[in-house]
Amino acid sequence: MKTIDELIADGVGGKRVFVRADLNVPLDGATITDDGRIRAVQPTIAKLAQNGAKVIVASHLGRPKGAPDPAFSLAPAAARLSELLGRDVAFAADTVGDSARATVAALGDGEVAVLENLRFNPGETSKDDAERGAFADELAQLADLYVGDGFGAVHRKHASVYDLPARLPHAAGDLIATEVAVLKRLTEDVARPYAVVLGGAKVSDKLGVIDHLLERADRILIGGGMAYTFLAAQGHEVGISLLQKDQIPAVQGYLERAAAKGVEFVLPVDVLVSADFPDLKTKAPAHPDTVAADAIPADKEGLDIGPETRKLYASKLADAATIFWNGPMGVFEHPDYAGGTKAVAQGLLDSSAFTVVGGGDSAAAVRQLGFDENAFGHISTGGGASLEYLEGKTLPGLAALED
Ligand code: 3PG
Repeated sequence: MKTIDELIADGVGGKRVFVRADLNVPLDGATITDDGRIRAVQPTIAKLAQNGAKVIVASHLGRPKGAPDPAFSLAPAAARLSELLGRDVAFAADTVGDSARATVAALGDGEVAVLENLRFNPGETSKDDAERGAFADELAQLADLYVGDGFGAVHRKHASVYDLPARLPHAAGDLIATEVAVLKRLTEDVARPYAVVLGGAKVSDKLGVIDHLLERADRILIGGGMAYTFLAAQGHEVGISLLQKDQIPAVQGYLERAAAKGVEFVLPVDVLVSADFPDLKTKAPAHPDTVAADAIPADKEGLDIGPETRKLYASKLADAATIFWNGPMGVFEHPDYAGGTKAVAQGLLDSSAFTVVGGGDSAAAVRQLGFDENAFGHISTGGGASLEYLEGKTLPGLAALED
């Protein structure tokens, strides 16, 4: 992979450089609730601008249906990027239309523009190679060079991620280079004990990575909504908790494989339960009960790991040399159910391990819960992307930057 410094050494002054970023930030209306992804790519944009490039930043946001939708506009992200760069950032109201062409044509050397959401064009995400290719052709006309730095989207075979770099001289941005270097440390010569904490809602999203980790990790700690499918697989009643019944056989298979291989699977021993899902807007007190993980009442759902589980998980992280964590332990957006996620974050910080927080939700949780993000070894900007990398899959957006 060519680095951005090599691209700069070849000369970017006066050239139009298309930067595929991942500015897919969480929004509350037009307010960005976590700007981590914008901050992560900002140095690449600044470096190119300082070297005289005309920088065209492009990204997706959310999952609009291939047509303009103001709720998914990148305008708030462009405004935040402008604040971070400390300079004006032009904004094009479309992706390859009149506004984009005029905005790019007006860029001076060292200036920056953001295009509107790439997914407003159906060609971006199309499964049809020709439709995607046609959109990539139009994007290619806007630029002379391509820098891939949207790590969070490299697992997507999308026009701007996969097809466009084949049409322009390209390089990997500094964010992608850092992310890949970190993930290599989790797949090659990993320092042991290697502990992995997996949470989040759905076990089906994590099957591939669990399969891979059973061959590599020493301990796998499970929390979040997916824990209840594991508890059910062990024969426990889980009340009205999240449950993916169809995944129970797969989970039973993993538990058996782990036992045969000596990989420690650690499941919650107690959980916080309630009959009602908490109100995340008002954050009204939820008054949960703490129950043993094998005694969840039929009319209640588990919403966080309990105090004994938090202690247990902290002890399983304390002596680890490498920790990868993906997915919250509970409904951390409500203060009454944030304790489990906080305890895991603290467990990472209290260990002397190389710690990697993977994924949009866990990364946002760490920042929203007030932890110093610099205290972690690395906070990845890619949720799905980092999981697919760990699964050993070929990621289209990385493959496209290889040659
Ligand atoms: C993410 O949020 O994981 C990335 O931005 C990719 O978004 P997507 O899952 O909508 O492709």
